[in-house]
Amino acid sequence: MTDTVNHLVNLDDYETRARELLDPAAYDYIAGGADAEVSLGLPRRALDAIRLRPRVMTDITTCDLSTTVLGHPVPAPILVAPSGDHGIAHPAGELATARGAADTGTVMVVSSGSTYPLEDIAAAAAGPRWMHLPLLRDRDLAVELLRRAERSGYSAICLTVDHKVMAKRERNIRNRWSTPPSPNFPAAAVPRAEWDVTGAAIRKRFDGLLDRSATWPYVSWLAERTSLPVVAKGVLAGADAALAVASGAAAVIVSDHGGRQLDTAVPPIEALPEVVAAVGDRAEVYVDGGFRRGTDVLKALALGARAVLIGRPVLWGLAVDGAAGVSAVLLMLRDELETAMAMCGAAGVAGVTKELVR
Ligand SMILES: Cc1cc2nc3c(=O)[nH]c(=O)nc-3n(C[C@H](O)[C@H](O)[C@H](O)COP(=O)(O)O)c2cc1C
Repeated sequence: MTDTVNHLVNLDDYETRARELLDPAAYDYIAGGADAEVSLGLPRRALDAIRLRPRVMTDITTCDLSTTVLGHPVPAPILVAPSGDHGIAHPAGELATARGAADTGTVMVVSSGSTYPLEDIAAAAAGPRWMHLPLLRDRDLAVELLRRAERSGYSAICLTVDHKVMAKRERNIRNRWSTPPSPNFPAAAVPRAEWDVTGAAIRKRFDGLLDRSATWPYVSWLAERTSLPVVAKGVLAGADAALAVASGAAAVIVSDHGGRQLDTAVPPIEALPEVVAAVGDRAEVYVDGGFRRGTDVLKALALGARAVLIGRPVLWGLAVDGAAGVSAVLLMLRDELETAMAMCGAAGVAGVTKELVR
């Protein structure tokens, strides 16, 4: 494996290699988006259109990428986004992802739609981890998951607010793909005979699980039931970010769910300044969607994000080389960020200001 891995020089190379290794339907499930998949291409174009205005002749002898997220020190502002079903990328699934992320010292947001139980993932590595929670219709189930997360050392709850309905993901329909049920939702499991024959089973399963009637008091309800900070993931409007914070969210994630929900939604990097302005210093703001280069991360920081999260590249790293692949992807992006910051004259993340972008 090492020879191949040595030829992977950027995050896109990891995708190319993962595609060669994965079952085509599994690749499509990870890579794909909703409807016409317009949103898959938007972050790349939006990020590329932002121009950097470097400062030169500053002292960049050391370039300090470290920061904190909700009080956790992290060596770089790059976190692992929640994504379900890591077992389709690698047999060790989230256990390997957790090890890979922990080896780099960063936060992993564990999807509650994981292949392995939350407790096993917690036991696999000592790194900081947050738990993702969907907008569950069954509030008892939500509280049960909350307690399980608290007991096993998760330190924040990431409530995904942009997923009330299952999008039309055409690649999955064509491939007759349906995700295997997660052990975290045993009651909601689709019988095995159904999940690989029709995409309808997964839609039905999610429609039964998710609460279409949920409004912002859902966030307050959750925040009142835990001492852990609540992060609202999936806002694209400043007004929603303000409502999330007013409802008790300690942080928001500007996200379009990686183009997997509402196609043609505004790309997160474009929505970021509006959210940052709406939230001010009342909460932390993170962003995800299409971050593949150190310069991309730099642009997000310059526009006011405290950190970015990456989704698919982590799964590509996992598919290519297990835990080592996850670490390699995270460290590669970190390394690129360090170089980009140095070339912009920023010796630390505090020096990455909006004057650096045009
Ligand atoms: C295979 C896959 C599964 C995902 N599952 C979840 C999930 O369970 N909960 C969630 O909030 N977001 C989920 N996401 C979205 C990611 O958290 C993140 O928003 C997105 O992947 C970021 O874009 P990127 O892949 O371009 O980095 C998933 C993404 C992928 C690719």
